[in-house]
Amino acid sequence: MPFDIPALQADAKEAIKNCLTLEDLDKIRNKYLGRKGVILEMTSQIPNLPVHERPIQGRLINELKKEIAILLEAKHNEFRASISVDEKPVFDETFPAFKQELGHKHPLSITFEEICKIFQQCGFSIEEGPEIETEFNNFTGLNIPLDHPSRDAFDTFYLQPQKHENNTKAQKLLLRSHTSPVQVRVMKSRKPPLAVVVPGKVYRPDAVDSSHSFMFHQIEGFLVDKDIKFSDLKGMIDLFLKSYFGKGITMRFRPHFFPFTEPSAEVDISCIICGAKGCSVCGKKGWLEIMGCGMIHPNVFKQVGYPRNKYTGFAFGMGVDRIAMLKYGIDDIRLLYENDIRFLKQF
Ligand code: PHE
Repeated sequence: MPFDIPALQADAKEAIKNCLTLEDLDKIRNKYLGRKGVILEMTSQIPNLPVHERPIQGRLINELKKEIAILLEAKHNEFRASISVDEKPVFDETFPAFKQELGHKHPLSITFEEICKIFQQCGFSIEEGPEIETEFNNFTGLNIPLDHPSRDAFDTFYLQPQKHENNTKAQKLLLRSHTSPVQVRVMKSRKPPLAVVVPGKVYRPDAVDSSHSFMFHQIEGFLVDKDIKFSDLKGMIDLFLKSYFGKGITMRFRPHFFPFTEPSAEVDISCIICGAKGCSVCGKKGWLEIMGCGMIHPNVFKQVGYPRNKYTGFAFGMGVDRIAMLKYGIDDIRLLYENDIRFLKQF
């Protein structure tokens, strides 16, 4: 037999059994399992053996290696357990400290905070609402008629209808498709004057691609008081856009339709990527669509129980993901949700 494995096994066993200190145990480990140890030495000689011997000896060496490792580990544990409390290694203050990897805010959180701060400085308060909403708050209270396409199951995630104990049907629940239902919630519970911004998540069953996601983020804003005019809305939006995107931008209001505002508009800013010259981001138009807005529809005031003709107000809503993408030059919305550390580290 080329190697005397049983003899080696007996020697190792004996040595480990009689070993008295951790240092000696380390020496035994080195002798058998170290880089210049017996096991590696034998392994390196396998190619010199007759072909039929090689697999047999290889297996035996491996078994020996495993056995020695187990015995060493058991002896090591035995030593550890027997060290008395005051002998146990104390905290070594000269040892290099572990580097604490501090995280930082997500680009969406930064965007939310910067936008909300501008409105807070103008006296707006921040309110949040639930992501699971009633059909009333998401649609009916906002003057969205029963046959409006946005109520369709293709455009809104509905929850399984629940039955009350007395077998009557409960209100239909859904994942809110915009932050506007918080207008209804706040107005139902408080009287004007109101100046509120609402940051939050919204949901729509859109196919996911570079600019769409089934979940995204909005900031809603509304202001209700006596004698609020469209010029107040324009002034506020102008101040916000210039504070956030820089004084150099220009804005334009395009007539639009929303059931809960009248008149309604969409707001564009001159393209911040190309300086309004026309590029792929603005579709060569020089303008970027930023938000929807308008004067709150009298029917909304009626739905929340405000007296007729007493108050006027404006509301606006913007997509936070899109604004973050424009501000940071991000070309795919999915990057915001994938939590890839290489992406996140850039902010
Ligand atoms: N809720 C609208 C949307 O999601 C945005 C909007 C809010 C428009 C407030 C007008 C007033 O598209």
